[in-house]
Amino acid sequence: MTAVEINGHQIEVLFTEAEIAARVGELARLVAEEQPENLLVVPVLKGSFIFAADLIRAFYRARLLPEVDFMMLASYRDKTSSSGQVDILRDIETDVRERDVLLIDDILESGRTLAFAKDLLAARGANRVFTAVLLDKPGHRAADIDADFKGFDCPDKFVVGYGMDMAHAYRELPFVGFVMNPCG
Ligand code: IMP
Ligand code: MG
Repeated sequence: MTAVEINGHQIEVLFTEAEIAARVGELARLVAEEQPENLLVVPVLKGSFIFAADLIRAFYRARLLPEVDFMMLASYRDKTSSSGQVDILRDIETDVRERDVLLIDDILESGRTLAFAKDLLAARGANRVFTAVLLDKPGHRAADIDADFKGFDCPDKFVVGYGMDMAHAYRELPFVGFVMNPCG
């Protein structure tokens, strides 16, 4: 595996730019095969913003005609209980009634964030609510949810890059990696 040094920290590359680009194109084609109707795409900010930007442009090549609105959620993890709270920091402005919706997130981990968003949009009257995630970390699932479309299975490590951060740093990396020496 390749490691990159950034500001004195070693970042081990898990998924390269080329691997991500190829997989994003495949995901767009898989979404198109579902023939979504009146599609609204909803990236869940912030970590999904680069994945969403690439996936939405791949939708153009897959001949999908989505509308796009944004949601920002904060989930508070309580390690002592299985229920965590999710707050809406920014809601979509779009009426989802009788539309197909695709939620986009960076990582599916406990599943609380996406389960909350999916239930919310279904309760507002969306037809089908699909979920697309770049990475799936299945080891810590607390909510009963699986992604309809996922890029890659992710090892149980804290990953950064391609929109994902550690204390708001590393979002700019065009690849996904993990910090080998976070305190060093
Ligand atoms: P959950 O599925 O509700 O636990 O939330 C997953 C969210 O936690 C993701 O959207 C990320 O914002 C964040 N997250 C989980 N694991 C990581 C990681 O390894 N790096 C960066 N963010 C992460
Ligand atoms: Mg997130």
